[in-house]
Amino acid sequence: MKKGISTRCVHAGEEPEPTTGAMGTPIFQNTTYLYPNPDLPKANDARVGDYYIYTRYNNPTVEALERKVADLEGAGSAVAFASGMAAISTTLLTVAGKGGHIVSARDLYGGTYNLMRDILPSLGIEVTFVDTRDTRSFGRALRDDTRLLYCESITNPLLKVADIPELAGIAHAASVPLVVDATFSTPVNQNPLALGADVVVHSGTKYLGGHSDVVSGVVATNDELAHDIRERMIFLGGCIDPSAAWLLMRGLKTLELRVARQNVTARWLAEYLEGQSKVVSSLHPEMESHPDNELAQRVLRAGGGMVTFELEDLEACHRCLDAFEVITVASSLGGIESIVSLPVDTSHWELDDEELASLDISRGHVRLSVGIEDIDDLHEDLRRGLDAV
Ligand SMILES: Cc1ncc(COP(=O)(O)O)c(C=O)c1O
Repeated sequence: MKKGISTRCVHAGEEPEPTTGAMGTPIFQNTTYLYPNPDLPKANDARVGDYYIYTRYNNPTVEALERKVADLEGAGSAVAFASGMAAISTTLLTVAGKGGHIVSARDLYGGTYNLMRDILPSLGIEVTFVDTRDTRSFGRALRDDTRLLYCESITNPLLKVADIPELAGIAHAASVPLVVDATFSTPVNQNPLALGADVVVHSGTKYLGGHSDVVSGVVATNDELAHDIRERMIFLGGCIDPSAAWLLMRGLKTLELRVARQNVTARWLAEYLEGQSKVVSSLHPEMESHPDNELAQRVLRAGGGMVTFELEDLEACHRCLDAFEVITVASSLGGIESIVSLPVDTSHWELDDEELASLDISRGHVRLSVGIEDIDDLHEDLRRGLDAV
C-alpha cells in the first residue's frame, strides 16, 4: 500500500548514509568526484546518472531531493534547479525549442510572464496568452506548431483555479504536453500529474522549502522527458547547489504539517474578511463565494494558504498594512511567516490601469500568504489593520 503523504514527506527518497549509517542525507558539498576509470567516456558523452562526474551533472544530495519530489508528485523522475525560474525556463526551452509555439494562461507569476512575453519570442518561440478560466480558449489558440500548454494550478493574485483535467484533454488531443506550475497548490493539495498533466513545476522557494531561506525549483515528469530536461539543465547551467538541495529537502519533511495548518487558517481568515464591511471582496478557493469553488472541490484536496482580499483603494491598503504587527509586508509567499503584499506594488507593478483592468486586478487588492502563527494573532492583526482603514 502506498504510504501517506506525511510519511513520504519525511522518508521518501532518503536512506541512512551507507558508509557511516548517519540518519538523514548528508550534504555532499563537493563539485567533483574521483574519476574512477580512465576508459570512461568523456564527460559530454556520458549519459546523465551513469556515474558521478561533476555536481552540475549529478550529486547524491540533489538526487535524494529529486527522488523525494518525484515520489510526492507521483512522477517517474524529478529534476532540481537553482530557482523556480530556472526550472520553468529550462523546461520550456526543452519542450518548446526550435521555434515552437506555446499556449499559456495569461494569469502568470510576473517572472514567467516576462519570460514568455519577451525572452522566448526573442528566441523564436511564440506565445499566445489566454484566460485561465476560459478553458476552451486554449483549444482555440492551438496551432500546427504548438508544442505545449501552460498554466498555474492556482493563480496569483486572484486565486483562479485551472481545470487541469479539461486542459490535459485539450493538450492530448493535440498530442502536446500540459505543463502546470503548482507552486500555490503544493503536492499536499493537488497532484497535477494524477489529474492528467504531463509536467509539474514548482518554485521550491515557496511552500516546498517553506521557511523563506532557500531559493530553488523542481520539475517532475516522466523519466524520458526528465532526462531531456536534465540534459538541458546541465548545459544551461541552472543546477541547484547541494546545500540548497539539503535545505529544501529538510523543509519538505514538514510540508504536510505546514500546509494542513495554512489551509485551515487561510480559509478561516478569508471567511472572517468576507464578513467585514470595509472589505470589498475576499477570495479563497474553498469558499462558496469563490467563482471556481465547484471546480476547486474537484481538482484540489484543499484551497491552500493564500487569501486575496480587496479594500476600497490603494490608500486604504497602505493604512491597513501599516497597522499590522505580526504579518510582514514583503514579497514572496509560502513560508512559515505570514506575508502580505500589494500586487500593484510588487508582482504587477509594471501594469497600467488598462492592463490591470483586463486582468480584473484592482489597486485595492491585498495578497496574504498565511503562515503558521496562532490564528488568534493573525485574526487580531487583520482586525487591527481594518480598524486603521
Ligand atoms: C507561481 C510562481 N512560479 C514561479 C515563481 C518563480 O520562482 P523563483 O522565485 O523560485 O524563481 C514564483 C515566484 O514568486 C511563483 O510565485
